[in-house]
Amino acid sequence: MTMLAGQVAIVTGAGGGIGRGIVDRFVREGARVTAVDFDVERLEALAGLYGDAVRTVVADVADWDANRAVVETTLEAFGRLDCFVGNAGIFDHGMRLEAMEGANIPGAATELLGVNLIGYLLGVRASLDALRASKGNVILTGSFASTEPSGGGILYTISKHGVVGAVRQLAYELAPDIRVNGVSPGVAPTVLKGVSSLGQVEQSAVFPGTAALLPLARMPEAADFGGTYAFLASRDAAHITGSMLPVDSGLAIRGIG
Ligand SMILES: NC(=O)c1ccc[n+]([C@@H]2O[C@H](COP(=O)([O-])OP(=O)(O)OC[C@H]3O[C@@H](n4cnc5c(N)ncnc54)[C@H](O)[C@@H]3O)[C@@H](O)[C@H]2O)c1
Repeated sequence: MTMLAGQVAIVTGAGGGIGRGIVDRFVREGARVTAVDFDVERLEALAGLYGDAVRTVVADVADWDANRAVVETTLEAFGRLDCFVGNAGIFDHGMRLEAMEGANIPGAATELLGVNLIGYLLGVRASLDALRASKGNVILTGSFASTEPSGGGILYTISKHGVVGAVRQLAYELAPDIRVNGVSPGVAPTVLKGVSSLGQVEQSAVFPGTAALLPLARMPEAADFGGTYAFLASRDAAHITGSMLPVDSGLAIRGIG
């Protein structure tokens, strides 16, 4: 018996990296998936791979109408929705507050928070009725930066701290019908898009030297995170809500030794 047999999920940021790993794992566990990304080329690599089990939708998660359209497409294609995974994200490549011109901060904050935090809220809001009907669940991607400094710069860190608040508040608001949890990856060897209003382009998500600092001494693959999401979406997690599950290669227990 697969973990997610008969379930239907929406996964954002599904074109690559951790999101693609979630799609692959959910399909292996028996789910049908709407895979959402605004990167057309990345989605094309996924389209057709799983036949009718995966529907790809090009959408900007920071846009309300786009989120509504994603849910409508999902219900038309699959008839139900059991899990919304908010995972799309952009990175500030560790930029410090003092490195930003003051006049650029409002635009940069709007851009980054619009994807990493508001995009999640829009996706959950658009999914609410369908998730209530299925007694479904929400999973949001946090980060090591959800609890610690230096996992990113100031904008990324406040966005990922905000994910913890979103998970806890939404778990409170949506109980008993909908469970809400998060996954906090430590590091994964992906290439994250930057804040375009700051002139940032794609760059490795892993800071130089990080691999040598991991207590578990192994850099995970992006695909390694999918199982944690599948677990949280499954009936085995029926009594878990409001939790952030760290998958951080031991970063939080490095200590000072
Ligand atoms: N890679 C890491 O080390 C790491 C660590 C902690 C948390 N994370 C988080 O994991 C999540 C996935 O990131 P990843 O590392 O797999 O990087 P990634 O760049 O491979 O995946 C992110 C995806 O989101 C998409 N995306 C970005 N903005 C979008 C928008 N407005 N609308 C739709 N799609 C959009 C991108 O096109 C990309 O395919 C992010 O939330 C990231 O913050 C990553």
